Amino acid sequence: MAGEWWRDAVIYQVYPRSFADSDGDGVGDLPGITAHLAALAELGADAVWLSPFSRSPQRDAGYDVSDYCDVDPLFGTLEDFDRLLSTAHGLRLRVIADLVPNHTSSDHPWFIAALAAAPGSPERGHYLFRDGRGPGGDEPPNNWESVFGGPAWTRTANPDGTPGQWYLHLFDSSQPDLDWSSAWVREQFRDILRFWLDRGIDGFRVDVAHGLVKAAGLPDWTPPAAAGSMGDDLPTNAVPYWGQPGVHDIYRDWHAVLAEYPGERALIGEAWVSPLTLLADWVRPDEMQQTFNFAYLAAPWDAEALRAVIDASIAAFSAVGAPSTWVLSNHDVVRHATRHALTFENPQGAGIGPRHIPHLPDPVLALRRARAATAVMLALPGSAYLYQGEELGLPEVVDLPDSARQDPTWFRTGGERYGRDGSRVPIPWAADEPAYGFSPTGRSWLPQPSSWAQLARNAQAADPDSTLSLYRSLLALRREHGLGDGALEWLGGFDADVLAFRNGDVTVVANLGKKPITLPDGEVLAVSGRMDGGIPYDTTVWLAR
Ligand code: GLC
Ligand code: MG
Repeated sequence: MAGEWWRDAVIYQVYPRSFADSDGDGVGDLPGITAHLAALAELGADAVWLSPFSRSPQRDAGYDVSDYCDVDPLFGTLEDFDRLLSTAHGLRLRVIADLVPNHTSSDHPWFIAALAAAPGSPERGHYLFRDGRGPGGDEPPNNWESVFGGPAWTRTANPDGTPGQWYLHLFDSSQPDLDWSSAWVREQFRDILRFWLDRGIDGFRVDVAHGLVKAAGLPDWTPPAAAGSMGDDLPTNAVPYWGQPGVHDIYRDWHAVLAEYPGERALIGEAWVSPLTLLADWVRPDEMQQTFNFAYLAAPWDAEALRAVIDASIAAFSAVGAPSTWVLSNHDVVRHATRHALTFENPQGAGIGPRHIPHLPDPVLALRRARAATAVMLALPGSAYLYQGEELGLPEVVDLPDSARQDPTWFRTGGERYGRDGSRVPIPWAADEPAYGFSPTGRSWLPQPSSWAQLARNAQAADPDSTLSLYRSLLALRREHGLGDGALEWLGGFDADVLAFRNGDVTVVANLGKKPITLPDGEVLAVSGRMDGGIPYDTTVWLAR
């Protein structure tokens, strides 16, 4: 396979519990993935990233690991993993595993041992245990808040039942943060990397890659009044638990571990870090190979904003010799087939649900925009991430009953935030089969909307106008014309609400305005919607120049 494959790769995110269920329990599993890998190769993916499948009590859908070196029985066995990997490699698909190093599950033996040990013991030193503040230590050690809502600290009980120390969890209380200043913790994770590298994994997507190191002394954090409530107008490393400089030593160390192995193994950071110039530190030559570009994901469907983020991305990443990446959807955000047409504020992670239904955008408009946005993304130089189901045009599911919800965000905010379940509904494969082909028994861990029959893969496969056919042809053209390896050149002479650029021998024109525009000369290679003499609103065209 070609050199530095990730530079132009299209990486397809599989969310195992919602991809394909082979044993009928209503939860997707590894044999289900293996059975459908050919469909992903045929779609045009270069690699698959699998969200976590390691042993876990599943309190945060597997992002709470209790054994890093085994497969959760819900998903299968290590032998199932080996079969998945060899099948993928036979199809020339690389496989990326999700590694969750910021925290373990509270069921992990390391944490159980830490709870059983005394304050100040080496076992407690693997995590962030602290005495509380105030009389009797009744107040949390500092004022940090969990990403999922509520305090980031939970108090433990001593063996005699009296209240004990507190432990830090930036996410759910079932996800205690490890202390990465511990040499022991670092050694364990080198071994975990080697365990999967020895089995042949092609790389790791590193969960919460910006969170591992906390500022010394764990100081209180109060965003300045001028900044947004999450402090998101500031450089991320102003927050004492995000983007601290010490994280980079960890990734340099891991880079060296991966380099011991043949083939080109890759580290991909999930780092919610801004500005992009700071994020680029994650992908310096001796650190990670890639990092998700969430600035691009967060950009609105607006030509000026997109031009700015595309330019800033290419500038920031090329300054360190890394490719930019591009992404529109994943398992943590509202699917872009809904998000790009929302007319209300919806902070990341808040999700949308029944109370938003009266305010939702026209789904036809939303899908039209999503297709146009994808046709922009897949023409950009660099590497692109797809999230399972976006190639079917799946929208966010907004009418999940409260009783079905599973995201800890929903519980930790008492239903104030819906959380992320709406992007995680099992995907439809076959219109006329139980659970639309997701599961042979028709079970599904989250209910699927009845409207998904017509979005099923087999219902779209032969329709040249379907979203699936659009993705297939864009991916084939992207490969044929070497767009991932190309360079972007903006074209002048268009209105401000039109994105127009050239990448190699392909010209891309996206009309984000309200009125149709004239179709420039050239053979039409692909179009995200229907042409109407010119290029209608919310439509992207690829032309041979
Ligand atoms: C990452 C994952 C998200 C998970 C969180 C805690 O942001 O993508 O799904 O809940 O980390 O591990
Ligand atoms: Mg199953």
